This record gives sequence, structure tokens and C-alpha cells, in this order.
Amino acid sequence: MSNNKSLLAVRGMNDILPPDSSQWITIEVHARKHFEQYGYNEVRLPILESTNLFERGIGEDTDIVEKEMYTFLDKKERSLTLRPEMTASCVRAYIQHHVYKHETTSRWYYMGPMFRYERMQSGRYRQFHQIGVEAFGVTSPSLDAEMIEMLYRFYVNLGISNLTMNINSVGSDKDRNVYRTVIVERLEPYKEELCTNCQRRLTTNTLRILDCKIKKCIEIVTHLPPLSQYLSTESKAYFDFVQESLSLMNTPYALNPSLVRGLDYYTSIVFECAVTQEKTSILAGGGRYDNFVEQLGGVSTSAVGFAMGTERTLMAMPSHKNNASLDVFIVHYGDHAKTQAIQIAQTLRNINLCVGVEHRSTSLKSQLKQANKLNAIYVIIIGDDELQHNSVTLKTMKTGTEHSILQSELKNKLKELLA
Ligand code: HAM
Repeated sequence: MSNNKSLLAVRGMNDILPPDSSQWITIEVHARKHFEQYGYNEVRLPILESTNLFERGIGEDTDIVEKEMYTFLDKKERSLTLRPEMTASCVRAYIQHHVYKHETTSRWYYMGPMFRYERMQSGRYRQFHQIGVEAFGVTSPSLDAEMIEMLYRFYVNLGISNLTMNINSVGSDKDRNVYRTVIVERLEPYKEELCTNCQRRLTTNTLRILDCKIKKCIEIVTHLPPLSQYLSTESKAYFDFVQESLSLMNTPYALNPSLVRGLDYYTSIVFECAVTQEKTSILAGGGRYDNFVEQLGGVSTSAVGFAMGTERTLMAMPSHKNNASLDVFIVHYGDHAKTQAIQIAQTLRNINLCVGVEHRSTSLKSQLKQANKLNAIYVIIIGDDELQHNSVTLKTMKTGTEHSILQSELKNKLKELLA
């Protein structure tokens, strides 16, 4: 029995078809080039990981771990999870391959699908894509600043400039402990008004309350003093250095004392990149996470990184026409021309040209329409006349000009024209 419903993609997971895929390639090519300029190399890691990697890494009290993970048992009853983000996987791989033994600092970038079972809305999907970077082994505010500058420059070079780079410091472990005590004290009188999760968080993971999305909790939390008031002298100096470096690099930023981020692993600097004055506007986020490697069983290693959402980046990009194009499209008419057309296509592909050829026997007019649709730069027309003279007609699509050329000269002529 057939059921067409079961043939649809899973809700919240999108197919990416041409011509849209060409914009994805634009972003991915841009990312590779951009990050490699800063000395980052690509890592490719599994999409599935043991569930406890994310529970221990991201934090059991976070929205991601509490509600959003795609978790299931495999045939041997092991609990596996489709990665909801990639920082935890990078840390796992960094530890597993003893990377710190071979190099003192490591700079990685990655791109790929992530999975979160979230409420669907514009710019929020259940399978989405991230492009991210992680740098291991450097504790220096100049690296935090370089990361923020690298993120900002990535977007500006992509044509997105209406950005706000929000930055904050969540301080050291000690700073957060002091702040935790303050929050517990201040929130105690409002305990009953908090959501049940936040009531529990008061004794388990207090700082998560600052990231609760429930309206009442947000209202109560707004009246708390910001964490920035409880930063130690060292944490403040670190944060100041980051700001000074950003100014020196002409990277605009905005201080956002309420920025805490939705993952537990951050220490010190956190940042988010938002499209100015838009609602679903967070394009990217990241920060320093100096305890994470040790917390997952590795040698104490400081680290900092960020990830951006590819779908959201695409939404923010100035829309441009599909500019994927063919160098040449070959059209043919008459009984024998098709075989010749296919041979010419092969010859031209051998010199690395992008060549399309019409395999159906349709009219010349409809083949030319097809060439236009595919954005071909040149069209080669071959019919009985051309066959007789071992020639082709070469048409420049932009100007419409046509001229006859011998087949033996075609390769060199096109090489010259397309150089
Ligand atoms: P995150 O803020 O959870 O951070 O995600 C980073 C970006 O992924 C977001 O700013 C957003 O653009 C995109 N994103 C997240 N969830 C969705 C969704 N459901 N649909 C569409 N886009 C989404 C992290 O994942 C950290 N691992 C970043 C990091 C790297 N921190 C340090 N290193």
C-alpha cells in the first residue's frame, strides 16, 4: 500500500536544490578561503556521537540537552545523538587524537549539518548547517579579538555589513561563583514566580536562569545586576584588552552585559553577531571555553571558537541572481550533427571548459532558449551546413554576434576567448 505522506522530507529538514545550492557553494568557498587566510585547517568529524558527550559538554540543564537532541539507541542499545553542534565533537577529537602532543596550537574549521528538535520558525530548522572555527592552546585576549574580527570580516566580505557584534565576559569560575550567590539571594523572594525549570536551576545550574526563554522569568531576570559588576580585576583586564584590540582593528562592537549564551562550556569572553534591527537576527555565536578539554578528560587546554548558521547567513546575504554559468552550450540540428556535437563537447571538457549539450532532438529555437536559461557564455551551433565544411557557428550570447569557425581551430579560439 503506498502512502505519499511518508515520502516527504522530515519536518524542519530542507532539501537544497539548484539553483539555490550555488549560493551555498559561494558561502562555503568563501569560508574556506577566509579561514585559511587566518591559518585554520578543515576537520571532518562524524555526525553521530555518544549522547553523553553532549550531556557532559553542553550541559544537562541547557535547552539543547534537555529538549532538543535527536537521541536514539543503536542495535547494541548504545545511546547515540545526532550532533546538535560541533564544539563538543571537536574537543572529543582533540583529546582522542592527542593533538596537543603534536602541536602547541591548533586552528580548525568545519562545516556541516547539525540537528536540534526546536520549535520551527523562520530561520530556525531541525536540520540546519553551521560553519565554525575552534582554536586550541592559546590563552591571549588578542586571539579572542582576532576571532571576533575574523567573524566580522567574513560577513563584510560577503556583502553583509549591517551587523552588530555583541560582546560580553562571563568571567572566571570564581567570578561566576560569586555572582551565583548574588542571584540565588536576589531570586529567592520570587522563587514561586519562576518556571519550574528555573526553580530547580536555583539549586543546580543557577546561571542558566539568565538564558530562560519564559516571559515571566525574563521579566524577573531583567532586574538583576549584570555579571559584569562581579568580574575580578583579571577578568576585567582581559575583557578590556579584547575591546582595545577590536578598536585597533577597526572592528565595531557593542557591549551586551546580558549576553550569556545557551551552552554551559563558556568561560570569559562570549560574543554573538546579529543583523542590526532584525528579529531572528543572530547569525553566529561563540566564545572562550578554557575548561572544556579538561572537563572531558583531556589535558588542560584553553580554547575559543564560534559557529555561524549557514541558512541565516544566506537569508542576510544581498540576494543575487543564480550566476552559475556554462562556458559553452552546443546546439545541433539535422540527422548527423548530434554525434558531432557530443564529440565536440568531450574535446572542450578535456580543456576544462564547462560544456552543456542538448541530448534531445528539439528545435533550434528551443535549444537556444535552453542555452540562455543555463547562462551559457557562448553557443556552438552545428547543422548540416557546418558539417559539410568541418566548421561550427560560434555565437556570443551577450552580444548575439555569430561567426563561422573551423572545428580544428575551435579549441584554441575558445581558450583565448575565455582566458
Ligand atoms: P549556537 O549559538 O548554539 O552556538 O549556534 C551557532 C549558530 O547556529 C546560531 O547563531 C545560528 O545562526 C545557528 N543555529 C543554531 N540553531 C539553529 C537552528 N535551529 N536553525 C538554524 N540555525 C541555527 C554553537 O553551536 C556553538 N557550538 C558555537 C561555538 C563554537 N562556540 C564555541 N565554538
